Amino acid sequence: MNKRTIEDLELHGRRLLIRVDFNVKIADGQIVDDTRIRASLPTIRHAISHGATVMLASHLGRPKGQFRPELTLRPIASRLSTLLNRPVRFAADCIGETAQNAAAAARTGDVVLLENLRFHLGEEQNDAQFSTQLASLADLYVNDAFGTAHRAHSSTVGVVSHFNDAVAGLLMAAELHHLGSLLTAPDRPFVAILGGAKVSGKLEVLENLLDRIDVLLIGGAMAYTFFSARGYPTGLSLVEPDLLETTRRIEHSASKRGVRLVLPTDHVIADRLEAFTPHDIIHVQDATIGQRLGLDIGPRTIAAYTEEITAARTVMWNGPMGCFEIDEFASGTLAIAQAVANSNGRTVIGGGDSIAAVNKAGTADSITHISTGGGASLEFLAGRTLPGVTVLSDQ
Ligand code: 3PG
Repeated sequence: MNKRTIEDLELHGRRLLIRVDFNVKIADGQIVDDTRIRASLPTIRHAISHGATVMLASHLGRPKGQFRPELTLRPIASRLSTLLNRPVRFAADCIGETAQNAAAAARTGDVVLLENLRFHLGEEQNDAQFSTQLASLADLYVNDAFGTAHRAHSSTVGVVSHFNDAVAGLLMAAELHHLGSLLTAPDRPFVAILGGAKVSGKLEVLENLLDRIDVLLIGGAMAYTFFSARGYPTGLSLVEPDLLETTRRIEHSASKRGVRLVLPTDHVIADRLEAFTPHDIIHVQDATIGQRLGLDIGPRTIAAYTEEITAARTVMWNGPMGCFEIDEFASGTLAIAQAVANSNGRTVIGGGDSIAAVNKAGTADSITHISTGGGASLEFLAGRTLPGVTVLSDQ
């Protein structure tokens, strides 16, 4: 992590624009998961305790430049206020007179949350005028929105040229440190666990990690493209036919690099993806799968994967092992959440589903680092540079 951070700034009496990622799931006006809000608290508290005034900016959803009442950040202001145990003012616009007035009225120690940046098209277009207006609200800029660092938008890139210094917040710094050390200095053995629906979504990560890991455990629906490429029966399981050759190439390049690529040996199959559906556990080469589909890894796979994870000194996990939203198909994912939590090594988890799984398993506190980045953490692990990080000032 060679970026300057909020800890390098003299904050007393200064007004900070902090880009946060409060893109959380909201249903019927209720916040479903506030992990990302909680993750921003250390930076906000640091700013307040050092005498700064805090202006927070975030997007929520993809409103495409239109005001959408269900995507207002208003409910987040009140949750943040509860978490901080102090008032949080809400500005009903992120630029223009409303935002300017909110900034002018804010005093040392005050926290203002600006309305959804994406209610203006200028945000995603990285529009120069929008950037100027946003930047005029503060005299220092902090980016703590790791989850949005892969987007070259106004609030992550365009605003930066208006400030002498653009620094990382504490969450951003922690993300870059933990994810970065997976790529640069992992303790060995390094075991990566990749799951989820599609190989296509994780292809670049797979390829980039093969140069760094010792063992790759594959689960979730993405295993079925590998099975199909090996000629195993997959029934109605999700297979990406265009990627059969690609998975063969990945298996080949893993073996060339001495990486053990491990696939499930047994799985849970059912007629449909539905709660209370009768299900069976069979070997992955068992043709009795017929017209059924694979929905979770089986107990032998759980045992084998747990053993690999236990022996690891570094573990990276992204993506569920099955359709864990339904109890009948959750055992694999929950067992992996437990095994990762029990590991004595450094453990890093990314991806909304894996995070939901460790929360469901009650093991989140035992994980070294839970990344708040979905797409951003995958791009980072794929070895891509993130525009929102590139523009931050170097040490
Ligand atoms: C995310 O949830 O991955 C980030 O907040 C980015 O959101 P986006 O994919 O809508 O740009």
